[in-house]
Amino acid sequence: MIQIGADGRTWLLSGPTSSYALRLTEHDELLHLYWGARIGIADAEALAAESLPPERGFESRLDGHEEYPVEGGRRFVRPALSVRDDMVRGTEWQGTGSAVDGDELQVHFHDPLHHLRTTLHYRLRGDVVERFVILTHEGDHRTPELEVLRADSATWTLPWRERWRLSHLHGRWGAESRLTRSDLTYGEQTIGSRRGHTGHAHLPWVALDAEGASEEYGEVYSCALAWSGSWRITVHQLPDGAVQISGGVGHDDAGVTVLRPGTAIVTPVFAALWSDGGFGGASRAWHAYQRAHVIPDAGTVRPVLYNSWEATGFDISEEQQRVLAHRAARLGVELFVVDDAWFGGRVSDRAGLGDWTPNPDRFPGGLTPLADEVHALGMRFGIWVEPEMVNPDSDLYRAHPDWVQHQPGRARTEFRNQLVLDLSRADVRAYLWRQLDELLSGAPVDYVKWDFNRSFTDAGRPGDAGLSEPWWSHTWHLYDLLDRLRAAHPTVSFESCSGGGGRVDLGILSRTDQVWTSDNTDPLDRLAIQHGFSQLHPARVMAAWVTDSPNVQLNDRVSSLRFRFVSAMAGVLGIGGDLARWSEDELAEAREWVDLYKEIRPLVQFGDLYRLRSPESGLSAVQYVLGDHAVVLAWLRAQSYGQEQAPVRLRGLDPEAVYACRDTGETYRGAVLLRRGLRTGLQGDLDAGVFRLRRV
Ligand code: DGJ
Repeated sequence: MIQIGADGRTWLLSGPTSSYALRLTEHDELLHLYWGARIGIADAEALAAESLPPERGFESRLDGHEEYPVEGGRRFVRPALSVRDDMVRGTEWQGTGSAVDGDELQVHFHDPLHHLRTTLHYRLRGDVVERFVILTHEGDHRTPELEVLRADSATWTLPWRERWRLSHLHGRWGAESRLTRSDLTYGEQTIGSRRGHTGHAHLPWVALDAEGASEEYGEVYSCALAWSGSWRITVHQLPDGAVQISGGVGHDDAGVTVLRPGTAIVTPVFAALWSDGGFGGASRAWHAYQRAHVIPDAGTVRPVLYNSWEATGFDISEEQQRVLAHRAARLGVELFVVDDAWFGGRVSDRAGLGDWTPNPDRFPGGLTPLADEVHALGMRFGIWVEPEMVNPDSDLYRAHPDWVQHQPGRARTEFRNQLVLDLSRADVRAYLWRQLDELLSGAPVDYVKWDFNRSFTDAGRPGDAGLSEPWWSHTWHLYDLLDRLRAAHPTVSFESCSGGGGRVDLGILSRTDQVWTSDNTDPLDRLAIQHGFSQLHPARVMAAWVTDSPNVQLNDRVSSLRFRFVSAMAGVLGIGGDLARWSEDELAEAREWVDLYKEIRPLVQFGDLYRLRSPESGLSAVQYVLGDHAVVLAWLRAQSYGQEQAPVRLRGLDPEAVYACRDTGETYRGAVLLRRGLRTGLQGDLDAGVFRLRRV
């Protein structure tokens, strides 16, 4: 709901539990008034009537109070908008009106010197406020183009509090999305990616709490950027203690793009949420928001998949995939995915990327015979692609060496022996569309794992030295390609992968069905990665595979099938082990775990998540609740001194009700489960359990 104050210049946006208020002054300053627990329009108007603190000495009265600080004028904060033409840098704007349309507010500004129209958009989605900006060059052919150096999607202002704490998700390849928390101090703290993709180093999300919020209690302010290219989120504590968070595309101030007369750019969404249910409450609200407004077809169940990568690497053949498919079907797998190396000359990571036709030595009849067999086994059929890349050793590169991102006269930087295609070229985009459309039309493919295995280094274009446009436009062109493919092939699902979790964000999630969380499939490491991932994203998109033990990819850790399965069952279950080498006993046990997962899957994929104990503690656990059902997944790292594990206190249950547990065979009073907790009985090293509860 959006309410407008009596003077038409104060707006109050209210979700079910929270409110956000702003005001346009008579001097066309757009001021932040309020963000937090729900208030009324009279409260917002009372805040609007207050005047800003007086200006003194070196301090600007605007700093820390503006909704979208532009460069120029009486401001010293990091500008959200920085624009220049060949003569003048910075923005001086006039308010030119506002509009409310349902749950969306638009506030318009115009800079007459630059002929620049700036529209700030606010969209309410439950308690989530989505913000983005549209910049339009309203000049004609006589007016100079504008260089957009910075165009953040939003600046968020936090209320005044004694001391803030910052949480974010950091990592690297194989160790993504690990939660870290520290006190905020004066100055700017920036996270982001300079890599042209979201990156493994940070998920574009921050959370701030002031009064020591816990997992289930306290106020938490969090925001997340819907962008899969380079990005930056800066948390700034100003000298007087005010805190602002600004974020958008592009990492440094190297520039976003050039705005020519008559053209416009739209920034990605920067979404923010206030919650007073602690970090758990914030996560549940983010999950509900993504299921309702971001993830396509979020109400459909994600199937159990098999992926051959860890089993077969680059050494694949149709016959070997058939054998794996038969074994996968016996386990109850619902989607069989052929990973890398089915195409072109792809027999190692040195060749083949770019040539998206089946390798005739490996798949003499193309993909259709295998796809048909997989379908006959009752599974869907998926393939791996990495369309944005090319190996120098490929037919595509030999024909079009100029199609890659490069700086003329400079060495072309290779990672994993590959170069990045320049998607800002129309011919490259046309080629990719043709190849992928033909691929999906030519064989009965139900699922595409879309990978991206190196970061940008040489983005640029001959004749446009230093222009940052290819960095920014690549992501939009990628989105466009995915959108067109989805529209043309509506039955095909897509997975976003970038060497594991290098491209996980709200932008890619609005056009893919699930993401590959990490190349790290060690079930213990995964608990911490999943713990971080779940701060923002729901289990419904978090792919997790059971692979072989010892985990040869990573650390040689030995773990039981039980531990591996229960770890992977916390997300979208997949299997990635070499099934050809699994014993009959292992296959039989795996079948039981898959059946169990299918039973609890509605809770995992659509239920409310409660993180009961973090992986930092020796015994960690999560719980999913849906209606009268709950399921607890618990993992014990190591038992010490023969001690019994402390009971795990559950959440989200009715204290008055009685619950039956299928796995312990006991019934429990809700109040006991909530206040005393569930005894898991886990023991030894790397033990795990599943506890299904039903209200009786
Ligand atoms: C990186 C992915 O994360 C892996 O799962 C696998 O698909 C390889 N790429 C294939 O090259």
